[in-house]
Amino acid sequence: MSGGEDPAGFATLSDLEASARAKVIDPVWAYVQGGAGEERTLRANREAFERTWLRPRVLVDVSSVDAATSFLGTRSSVPFFVAPTAFQGLVHPDAEAATARAAASAGVLAVFSTVTTLSMEAIARAAPEGPRWFQLYLQKDWSLTEDLLHRAERAGYRAVVLTVDAPVLGTRDRQFQRGFALPSDMPVGNLPPLPPVEGRSLAQAVHAALRTDSGATWATMERVRESTKLPLVVKGVLTAEDAARAVELGAKGVVVSNHGGRQLDGAPASLRALPEVVRAVGSKAEVYLDSGIRRGSDILAALALGARGVGIGRPVLWALGCGGEAGVAKLLRLLREELETSMRLAGRRSIGEVDSSLVEADGALP
Ligand code: FNR
Ligand code: LAC
Repeated sequence: MSGGEDPAGFATLSDLEASARAKVIDPVWAYVQGGAGEERTLRANREAFERTWLRPRVLVDVSSVDAATSFLGTRSSVPFFVAPTAFQGLVHPDAEAATARAAASAGVLAVFSTVTTLSMEAIARAAPEGPRWFQLYLQKDWSLTEDLLHRAERAGYRAVVLTVDAPVLGTRDRQFQRGFALPSDMPVGNLPPLPPVEGRSLAQAVHAALRTDSGATWATMERVRESTKLPLVVKGVLTAEDAARAVELGAKGVVVSNHGGRQLDGAPASLRALPEVVRAVGSKAEVYLDSGIRRGSDILAALALGARGVGIGRPVLWALGCGGEAGVAKLLRLLREELETSMRLAGRRSIGEVDSSLVEADGALP
């Protein structure tokens, strides 16, 4: 992929997806787009939005609307944020620096993975004022985990997002079918160099880079919470039971997520799992959602079902691949405009006015 193209070529997210498809080499595309197994969960994420209907109110003065909100005290111009995705250098040479700059200019929170191409310090330098959170993958070696946490504090990350749905990598059929080895010189910004990856598929190489601790338990989550001053958000929860446990143990937020359908195939759509999590912890912690958000109206539906904010995963990689920083900036603008239009047409002037009466069937999703 080469950088710097004019990103003006896309008017909608589906145009953007098609342009990215044409630009990103096949094995990387399989890595980005693919889900786990039969991709039932990947498909269900979209189907859940397609089957959710909004109940608009009319004759409300919507001459001005305001989509601003905050996430754990971090101001955000919109109720969506950039979800953490590994190795953005696979789709654009400017990697996470471009994403960080575009998000900062738009006043949008960006969450950066443990397994980034650039180091978390380099990302912070690229957009010092941008609101950013650090996503933690637990390392087998606790001292590495602790080091990552302290570096995140020093580099101005304002929360830690602990991803708990990837003790092992899901069965990524699409990736295995198009086997691809990471370049052996692939930088892993935050961690010691990759173990030799020759002959491994991209998925296996990424997993090796993660050095994920498959033995982690709730006690490990508590240990993380005790090891940082930053508020802790737990990402990858799909049940009321786990959400309640996380919040009991001190999480300030949970992300209802099935990792974009990349982990347990057969897990429910995030939107379907959202109501039970909101009922369990919605009054005590902030609840976010990701997986399948592709339009402004999807954001509105998730908010009406109780999410405080939503994460955007693959579309950011499409935009980065198509146009680097300018591509991501355009994507964020497009989503914001779509959201504001949907708010106007639904008769909601602010995020505070997006309530559960806006959705037709709470809890009765596919
Ligand atoms: C991810 N995701 C992810 N999550 C995480 O916590 N750490 C990570 O390093 C990654 N890496 C990653 C790479 C790629 C290529 C994708 C597509 C996704 C999951 C991500 O944060 C988010 O949960 C999903 O992408 C949301 O679904 P959508 O928006 O892609 O449908
Ligand atoms: C993925 C990991 C890296 O989804 O989170 O590929």
